[in-house]
Amino acid sequence: MNINFSGKSVLVAGGTGGLGAAVSLAFLEEGARVTVTYRKEEEYAALKDAAATRAAALEGSPVDVTDERATAELVTGIVARHGRLDALVNAVGSYVGGVTLWELETKVFDAMLSLNLRSGYALARAVLPAMLKQGHGSIVNVAAKAAFDHGAGAAAYAASKAAAVAMMDSLAADVKGTGVRVNSILPSIIDTAVNRKAMPNADFTAWPKPQEIAQVILFLCSDHAAVVHGAAVPVYGNS
Ligand SMILES: NC(=O)c1ccc[n+]([C@@H]2O[C@H](COP(=O)([O-])OP(=O)(O)OC[C@H]3O[C@@H](n4cnc5c(N)ncnc54)[C@H](OP(=O)(O)O)[C@@H]3O)[C@@H](O)[C@H]2O)c1
Repeated sequence: MNINFSGKSVLVAGGTGGLGAAVSLAFLEEGARVTVTYRKEEEYAALKDAAATRAAALEGSPVDVTDERATAELVTGIVARHGRLDALVNAVGSYVGGVTLWELETKVFDAMLSLNLRSGYALARAVLPAMLKQGHGSIVNVAAKAAFDHGAGAAAYAASKAAAVAMMDSLAADVKGTGVRVNSILPSIIDTAVNRKAMPNADFTAWPKPQEIAQVILFLCSDHAAVVHGAAVPVYGNS
């Protein structure tokens, strides 16, 4: 199967993160023009370095994607510069666990909803006018296995990810037949540097690599996945 994004324009929110960077690089590798959002300048610089000969096709913007107005302006700029936006991947999110609901600080609850739910809301609202106008587009929202697997100590995280899947599912119904496709993916533990540091004694070989998950995301954004719409795709391998 030949997945090619030559001439396509893609937005990867959180595109310098543990998973997001692998997604950004995979799209660049397949010829896409990639816009990432980032928060730390040094992470964007590192992604540019990693992009090497493809760096000219990469652009970045330090936008808070929970801010609806800033996110809408970002998307307007992408469409103005590139004339199109073929795919949105939302790899922004955060995890807090190991704390009971009654011990959780409410500001943490709010942060989970903001990063794991509101980000997808603001981004989807920003990209949909352009995607509906052009009659095609693919949205992939990174949720988590925890959206369906509600273990102890992660009430806010699980609730935020479950709500994100429900929102994308409903959005998929909203845009049925328009040429825009909407899907979620469900990672469990990913083999990122942050996770290795947090769990140094774990068996890293069982954890899916960011690059492996990136390939699933590229597939979902490609025309090969034309019949995949409103899905929540598990990407947790053997972990
Ligand atoms: N890693 C895992 O094991 C795992 C498991 C299941 C699901 N997931 C999900 O997979 C996605 C990616 O995870 P990850 O491990 O790659 O996380 P990550 O390394 O923290 O990447 C997330 C990126 O989003 C950025 N970001 C945070 N808040 C933002 C905001 N308001 N606006 C714009 N960007 C913002 C982060 O910047 P900063 O670094 O500056 O905060 C970071 O670059 C998340 O949705 C996560 O919940 C991850």
